[in-house]
Amino acid sequence: MFDSVAAYSQDVRPVWLWLDPTTRCNLACRLCYTKQSHGKLDMDPDDLRRSLRKLTSSPTIEVKTIHLNWRGEPLMNPHFAELLAVTRDEMPGIQLQWHTNGTMLTEKRFREVLAVRHRHKIFVSIDGGNRLSHDLNRGEGSFDRSMRGLRTLLDLAEGDPWVKVGVYQIDLGEPLEAYDPTFLELLERVDDHVKVTPLLPGGLHQALPDPSGLESEEELHRMMNQDVNPRFPCRRAPASGPGTSCASPPTATCPSA
Ligand SMILES: C[S@@+](CC[C@H](N)C(=O)[O-])C[C@H]1O[C@@H](n2cnc3c(N)ncnc32)[C@H](O)[C@@H]1O
Ligand code: SF4
Repeated sequence: MFDSVAAYSQDVRPVWLWLDPTTRCNLACRLCYTKQSHGKLDMDPDDLRRSLRKLTSSPTIEVKTIHLNWRGEPLMNPHFAELLAVTRDEMPGIQLQWHTNGTMLTEKRFREVLAVRHRHKIFVSIDGGNRLSHDLNRGEGSFDRSMRGLRTLLDLAEGDPWVKVGVYQIDLGEPLEAYDPTFLELLERVDDHVKVTPLLPGGLHQALPDPSGLESEEELHRMMNQDVNPRFPCRRAPASGPGTSCASPPTATCPSA
């Protein structure tokens, strides 16, 4: 694959590289946009080394950033710390990031990861802003586990010049007043906080209305919120009903059906 990319042009291309350490995941989040491609494969450190060497020897590719995750939960790969070490050895100085759901962040696992001295940023994914909305997406009990993981990470990484900690939050429409106090406390300690609108209607299970008729990103966002967050005020009426019903405070705008 890399050979054909290189053959595409003789110009030097800046590349943001996304690599899958695994296709396995310990959760099945409702909104996950990679869930349908999850499987049972772990990346082998030697394969990673070979791929990175191909890239570094290419005269037309300049890797700017490496993202060591896409599908699945990176810490499901028992060799994840080795993958970090390979990345550091083959591409020293290149900015590295990865995301984790935080549920597997035991102190032992973290010490393993932090022992690889390499500048990187770790994002812990926390959705919505409180236990209810996070667990609706990620499964019961996951908010508490992710909070524990984030706290452990922040404690262990404190003062460590090699590691930055971020929170990556899918915005589920929760107002700040509804945020969990522990989450707010931990947010004060992170180096980065990214909050995003859910990108695509997630898992197969969802009985979402057909999104093709939606006219704006805002409408899509509202639709996602309706499915995931019962506190969100708008409720779409059943397909046979007269349109959208709204048991909402006056500030809410309901999409028309
Ligand atoms: C696919 S996950 C893989 C890493 C890890 N399992 C996790 O949950 O952080 C990578 C990132 O994508 C985000 N993500 C998943 N589904 C999304 C969606 N529909 N919209 C926006 N971000 C999403 C997750 O919150 C996570 O931060
Ligand atoms: S968002 Fe992350 S934790 Fe959730 S199912 Fe997708 S890969 Fe797994």
